[in-house]
Amino acid sequence: MNICCIGAGYVGGPTMAMIAQKCPDIRVNVVDINAERIAAWNSDALPVYEPGLLELVKEARGRNLFFSTDVDGGIVGADLIFMCLPTPTKTYGEGAGSAADMTYIEISARRIGELSKGNKIIVEKSTVPVRTAETVRRILDSASNGASFQVLSNPEFLAEGTAVTDLENPDRVLIGAEQNEAGQRALQVLVDVYARWVPRERIITTRLWSSELSKLTANAFLAQRISSINAMSALCEVTGADVQEVANAIGKDKRIGPYFLHASVGFGGSCFQKDLLNLVYLCEAFNLPEVAEYWRQVVKMNDYQRRRFARKVLHKLFSTVSGKRIAVFGFAFKRDTNDTRESSAIYICRDLLEERANLAIYDPKVEAAQIYRDLNRNEGDSSIIICKDQYEAATNADAVLILTEWERFRSNKMDYAKVFELMRKPAFLFDGRNLTDLSAMRAIGFNAEGIGKGA
Ligand code: NAD
Ligand code: UGA
Repeated sequence: MNICCIGAGYVGGPTMAMIAQKCPDIRVNVVDINAERIAAWNSDALPVYEPGLLELVKEARGRNLFFSTDVDGGIVGADLIFMCLPTPTKTYGEGAGSAADMTYIEISARRIGELSKGNKIIVEKSTVPVRTAETVRRILDSASNGASFQVLSNPEFLAEGTAVTDLENPDRVLIGAEQNEAGQRALQVLVDVYARWVPRERIITTRLWSSELSKLTANAFLAQRISSINAMSALCEVTGADVQEVANAIGKDKRIGPYFLHASVGFGGSCFQKDLLNLVYLCEAFNLPEVAEYWRQVVKMNDYQRRRFARKVLHKLFSTVSGKRIAVFGFAFKRDTNDTRESSAIYICRDLLEERANLAIYDPKVEAAQIYRDLNRNEGDSSIIICKDQYEAATNADAVLILTEWERFRSNKMDYAKVFELMRKPAFLFDGRNLTDLSAMRAIGFNAEGIGKGA
């Protein structure tokens, strides 16, 4: 069997590397129009940082895993084609700021239609609005020269930073197919691929629309938990409660569960906000304004949490950060990734730059050029200094902001007494991830604040 994956991004690269490693008899071609990305996949400096990914790629690359810019060649030779293409929020026209931009999916579907012969199975791996498979099918059929297609939905649930373990040992694999004989035959082909390493009872098969909607629903529920605990964090701060104690107490209830209850500077990442907005747009399009408004509130709460944090920094620093050096620990949207898409750090840094702060930023994996791009500043802009470690960032700083939950920023993993010594006094610590023991930080001499930590 030949598999082609269109899109060598955060999902396409790791997912196909796992399939190739688990199925040495299947040839897996990952194709992308971005030549720089493909070159990086063919090197030891992969474009995506994920623990364990380089080893995984190296095992299969050149054996049955190939990365190439030959998109057409990949399509022609494939029996099974995964679409791992972007579905960002639309920035123009109808639905701007909310609907999913389906341009990339349509362009690829047309190309598949034009180039294909015989039977092909097309797998939607991207997160898409419900009923996209119908659209993909119509595009394929209208562009086709007599080829026949089956469209499956197989959304991806991996989280960045844990992509390899999530793919190796998924909670579930979800595959939606048409409820007819041809649909079920195609479904079986994909089930057989995953069944090489995923226990059969964890491979869930559903109707197409249920599968597409389950992905949006899963992300909406996860994001909602974060907004819910973040909402409580604001209340904790004014009432004297501690959000970690509250999270622990409620998480012991099996019906609530302990995961995804870390109050923070807000969720980031390329997907939660985009998928929530996509859901909001769908509800509006189906004339369900109350449902749309319910989910929109999750995004609003996240925006509020980011702004609240930046405002707190400003107010605690005597209502001015103009000309002050602020050390920023962490810029990625979460730990163990180099991805900064929609990172809360971007929004908080922009707010502080507006207030004319000077930022000294350290992140273990994010490249300097990316940080400048995200902050809309030219490289070398004097208000942004990219640092090689935490201590350089903290030197002469008035405040330290912990914005990403990298393990190395925990109080037992680094020398906060040294950080304190290097700073201008009074020294402030704003722990946006609750990684430090605030009483220990206060004992060192910091004016220390966490998230949801009442006095
Ligand atoms: P990405 O931007 O990292 O990768 C997409 C790739 O597609 C890019 O490399 C781009 O160059 C390529 N591409 C665009 N048009 C192309 C074309 N016509 N032909 C060939 N290649 C083309 O995106 P991603 O993070 O991998 O996300 C892809 C999809 O998966 C999205 O729908 C996203 O919502 C979903 N998803 C992402 C994650 C995640 O953790 N990032 C997890 C689950 C689902
Ligand atoms: C999320 C989902 O967890 C994946 O299942 C899904 O496949 C993916 O989105 C997607 O569709 O793209 P990801 O965004 O990579 O994965 O990472 P998460 O671990 O979900 O974290 C998202 C954000 O929430 C991060 O900024 C993280 O720091 C934050 N977060 C997470 C919190 O603030 N508190 C928590 O308790 C958990």
